[in-house]
Amino acid sequence: RDGQELVVVANRLPVDVSLDEEGAPSWTRSPGGLVTALAPVMSRTSGAWVGWGGSPGLELEPFEVDGTELVPVMLTETDVERYYEGFANDTLWPLYHDVIAPPQFHRQWWDAYRRVNERFAQAAAANAAHGATVWVHDYQLQLVPAYLRALRPDLRIGYFHHIPFPPLEIFAQLPWRKQVVEGLLGADLIGFQRGGDAANFVRIVRRLTDLTTRGQMITVDEGTPDQRHVRAAAFPISIDSHAFDQLARTEAVQRRAKEIRSELGDPEHLLLGVDRLDYTKGIRHRIKAYGELLEDGRLSATSTTLVQVASPSRENVGAYQQLRDDVELLVGRINGDHGQVGHAPVQYLHQSFPMEEMAALYLAADVMLVTALRDGMNLVAKEYVAARSDERGALVLSEFTGAADELVGAVLVNPHDIDGMKDAITYAVHMDPRESRKRMRRLRRRVLTHDVAAWSEQFLATLTAVPVRDDA
Ligand code: G6P
Repeated sequence: RDGQELVVVANRLPVDVSLDEEGAPSWTRSPGGLVTALAPVMSRTSGAWVGWGGSPGLELEPFEVDGTELVPVMLTETDVERYYEGFANDTLWPLYHDVIAPPQFHRQWWDAYRRVNERFAQAAAANAAHGATVWVHDYQLQLVPAYLRALRPDLRIGYFHHIPFPPLEIFAQLPWRKQVVEGLLGADLIGFQRGGDAANFVRIVRRLTDLTTRGQMITVDEGTPDQRHVRAAAFPISIDSHAFDQLARTEAVQRRAKEIRSELGDPEHLLLGVDRLDYTKGIRHRIKAYGELLEDGRLSATSTTLVQVASPSRENVGAYQQLRDDVELLVGRINGDHGQVGHAPVQYLHQSFPMEEMAALYLAADVMLVTALRDGMNLVAKEYVAARSDERGALVLSEFTGAADELVGAVLVNPHDIDGMKDAITYAVHMDPRESRKRMRRLRRRVLTHDVAAWSEQFLATLTAVPVRDDA
């Protein structure tokens, strides 16, 4: 049977595709942690990547980029509204992130989610060789494993969940909770960011199904000829740490880092936040804490700058529009109250920047603020560490990120505790250089030894160890 040996299935292709004036497809690298994480994996393997090109209604033939076959899945405008903006990002996203925003439950959205997941499964089935490995990614595609197994029982199916997996008490709100669990159980291996996410999933399986579980193993179709085992375990994701480290060492990036500081008027303390503009990221809490520090005079508004990069995200979803208004109101207030002609204490950038510029910003910043209210991993924290080969800078990191499990050496904060966060920021700003070097060394050891290549190798090796049925 023709097809690829490794097929990645993700909501987004690693590129955004649109048609140019002549009607020819043209592409640019697409946003998001997932793409950043998998790009180096795919460039080393020959395989296919099934995903959406990012434009509604655009029908495209498969095409090749850097040796990978990209297989576009078409989403109509209604699919984008109901499956992507609706069920994925206005139902599952808030539900899985501790219901920070209220999840919306709509039956029409669920129907679209099911149909689109089926379409992704069909595209994967059509592109996989006999006995191939298919690696499905993230909460947008939780039903793909079971649909795919029904179509192609010969495949080895892995699923990785990039965002938090909630406790039963929250997950149980989902009217379609049982179908989602059954969809995931189509996989041979289900990967999560943290041990706690995997434990949540296994507990949910025990409560919502009558399947037998033993530690990380779940037995499906017990006592039938189809009996098999599903493993649920943690595989904390990472970044291409060495590539990032190298990029940050280039002369161009070093020069740009100095330039950024001088363009900002050489502030004594430069603080940095980098996030998708998302309500899970704790941007408001962070800016509030910073504003109060200026107000209290614990930080000087004339010699301190906070650069907040907030890249545009999911702009058609109401909760994101509300967040943008809230953040911009807050930034405007602080700059109005504490700014001077020629100096604004908050530099707010609602834009996305290329990697080089990000690396320069990380290098320029004295203190990096990652204050998410809930985050599966948070790769920004790891990028900051990878960029700091000078072993300077301090990382303030929320306890509620997956990264906090790994990044010993960060100053941990509870972002809901504004006073605690103010103390942590002050501590990081005035940290003794010997202490920050010691912390940064420790952080770098972790990030440089646990990179994305190690992550994907470990996941794929564990998946390969799962016995497949040879009669299929
Ligand atoms: C998170 C999710 C990814 C998603 C990315 C960007 O990292 O885990 O699955 O691709 O955000 O969000 P978007 O909705 O633009 O794809």
